[in-house]
Amino acid sequence: MKILITGGAGFIGMHLADYFLSKRKHVTILDNFSRKGVTYNAAYLSKKYPRITIVKTDVRDFATVKRKVKKHDVVIHLAGQVAVTTSIANPRADFENNVIGTFNILEAARLAGHKPAVLYASTNKVYGKLRGKIVKKGKRYSNLAFPNGVSETEPLDFYSPYGCSKGAADQYMHDYARIYGIPTVVLRQSCIYGTRQLGVEDQGWLAHFLIQSMFEKLLTIYGTGYQVRDVLYIDDLVFLYDKVLQNIYRVGGEVFNVGGGNARSLSLLELIVLLEKMMKKKINISFAPKRPGDQDVYVSDTSKAKKILNWKPLTPCKTGILMMYEWAKANKDLLLEFT
Ligand SMILES: NC(=O)c1ccc[n+]([C@@H]2O[C@H](COP(=O)([O-])OP(=O)(O)OC[C@H]3O[C@@H](n4cnc5c(N)ncnc54)[C@H](O)[C@@H]3O)[C@@H](O)[C@H]2O)c1
Repeated sequence: MKILITGGAGFIGMHLADYFLSKRKHVTILDNFSRKGVTYNAAYLSKKYPRITIVKTDVRDFATVKRKVKKHDVVIHLAGQVAVTTSIANPRADFENNVIGTFNILEAARLAGHKPAVLYASTNKVYGKLRGKIVKKGKRYSNLAFPNGVSETEPLDFYSPYGCSKGAADQYMHDYARIYGIPTVVLRQSCIYGTRQLGVEDQGWLAHFLIQSMFEKLLTIYGTGYQVRDVLYIDDLVFLYDKVLQNIYRVGGEVFNVGGGNARSLSLLELIVLLEKMMKKKINISFAPKRPGDQDVYVSDTSKAKKILNWKPLTPCKTGILMMYEWAKANKDLLLEFT
């Protein structure tokens, strides 16, 4: 099986590449290296697996994308603009990276002739602000309308330019399965975290909180800090991508909500408490107004992935965060340079 991973030098992409290369698959990563620090991931992969192919290209370059997609059986499409804040500052660049970039992947798959499988990393942001009454319980908010989390049947409500561009790409993916019979699968990911994540204030909040705290820098919390997210350790996500690929002809055209679920949900303030215990020190925080597009509570209902793919998250938050902390302590220089 030949796998092309766009954005393959990034956090999720490099873990997927590492996993599939360790399973003796043929992997090509395609990345424009626009994210600071990802050359380090590419160097790590090429040292560990000299047979990997690394292509420096932008997904907006249709001619190259078309040539590369034609040579692969599977495309895992992760490349794109990844932050809500950046999308608000530059909506055109966000649109071009996420909508045109994804459209290029799908057109390349359609024109390839052999119907390669295409897996897409979408986002919980496609559900927008969400209905329901928000109540405060201890250090966290809770949404009374979603006791088991948000399922795939929840109406879409794209919010923020990032929500719109990811949502448009998500719907194109879904439709290319219906209209052209391309086996596409959309994974609407909540917060993914883990080792090698170069989290910054604009994206990768859990890693950002951990890194700032480790370096004793002031941490800004936008909003009250009671906002809740479900968090999923990277290894659990990688297993899900593998399950999807093993079942691709059964699940082509499906959409799955992906996250840690209720059992792996944290408010920002709960994370601070956990990090303070782990690091055995007080963390400096300040508060600023809530940012646009920020949901008060988002927790995924992952029962569809459990039912259809027999997948469920396994790594408890504390274990995953501890693994990330151990990695961060061993890679301080890298983190100081790139985050
Ligand atoms: N990390 C999360 O919590 C999370 C949650 C939901 C969705 N996602 C989605 O998952 C995907 C991967 O996220 P990540 O956390 O690994 O981000 P990342 O920034 O670490 O990886 C993205 C990679 O894509 C590359 N890239 C960006 N624009 C490109 C372009 N136009 N052409 C080619 N390469 C380009 C970057 O250089 C980077 O290596 C993204 O599509 C993101 O929207 C991530």
